[in-house]
Amino acid sequence: MTALSRFAKFAWGVLALNVLVILWGAVVSATGSGAGCGENWPLCNGAVVPAAERTDTLIEYAHRLTSGLALLAVIALAVWAFRAHPAGSRVRRAAFVSFVFIIVESLLGASLVLFGWTAMDTSVIRVFMQPVHMLNTLLLLGAILLTARWASGGEAVQLSGQGGRVWLLGGGLLGAMLMSASGAVISLGDLLAGSLGEGYNDLVALLVQLRLGHPAIAIAVGLYIIWAAFRPEATPTPPARRFAYLTVGAVVAQWLVGFVNVALRVPLWTQILHLLLADALWLALVLWSAAALARSAARQPAGAPRSAAAAD
Ligand code: HEM
Repeated sequence: MTALSRFAKFAWGVLALNVLVILWGAVVSATGSGAGCGENWPLCNGAVVPAAERTDTLIEYAHRLTSGLALLAVIALAVWAFRAHPAGSRVRRAAFVSFVFIIVESLLGASLVLFGWTAMDTSVIRVFMQPVHMLNTLLLLGAILLTARWASGGEAVQLSGQGGRVWLLGGGLLGAMLMSASGAVISLGDLLAGSLGEGYNDLVALLVQLRLGHPAIAIAVGLYIIWAAFRPEATPTPPARRFAYLTVGAVVAQWLVGFVNVALRVPLWTQILHLLLADALWLALVLWSAAALARSAARQPAGAPRSAAAAD
């Protein structure tokens, strides 16, 4: 393996920063601190540096600072990618897509605050925004990951000539999005039901009734991912096989933490661990998909013996 360029190291750092910001975002929602800065954005309670009298203000303000840093880091990533890589390079494309998703992420975050879809708000649109926000987060992480991977010498992806592999892996990626989006919806239901006590409305009651849907989806999709990981056509190269096993490990760990989450009635630490594992599972699955759909894999017929040349 060749030494990583400064750009590649920066890209991996930007990925780590974004994961941390996402986890802190979960602390903001789990503690009901989304309105800690009032309905002001980007100012916090009308000031650049707010008076730090309340814990929810500190939590939300820290999220604003770190998410602002993540925004600047992704913009720097895109600018640097365009300066350091030639026109048409996949690193440039992935960095540009990361830039688009971080802009959408910031707009989604700002709209939650400006429209008051935070804290104990029980509007339908807030429920709708939960999975939208989660899906954009996953796409953002996927794009930054591919920027870092490709800048580190990862092979280009090619969809033509891959046969049923595209559907196998595409199914896994869509399924993983569904798992996390359904988790985001029930997480909101738990928060609102827990904080509003008996007085919650029909919408929150519906979210509470949907609780079982998320584990059911997570078990079904997890089984699909495990099944796919052991199919030769989904693991045509040694790297694809390694990442497939990593994904399987993340699924099993996530199932366990999911059950602990329920058994302990969702304390903050299992909530954060569950979200961290959801991100880890997603990143492993993206790496597996990119390795299985690599250009060199397209030249191999499905199920053919794995060649050393295909390894990266
Ligand atoms: C491998 C599959 C799974 C994935 C990818 C996944 C993903 C997620 C995600 C992304 C969230 C939202 C976290 C947040 O917004 O803070 C969530 C919430 C949740 N998940 Fe899962 N999950 C999986 C399996 C399970 C299982 C098997 C169970 C239970 C048996 C479970 C129970 C829960 C619960 C109770 C919540 C709500 C936690 C809260 O109130 O914040 N999950 N899940």
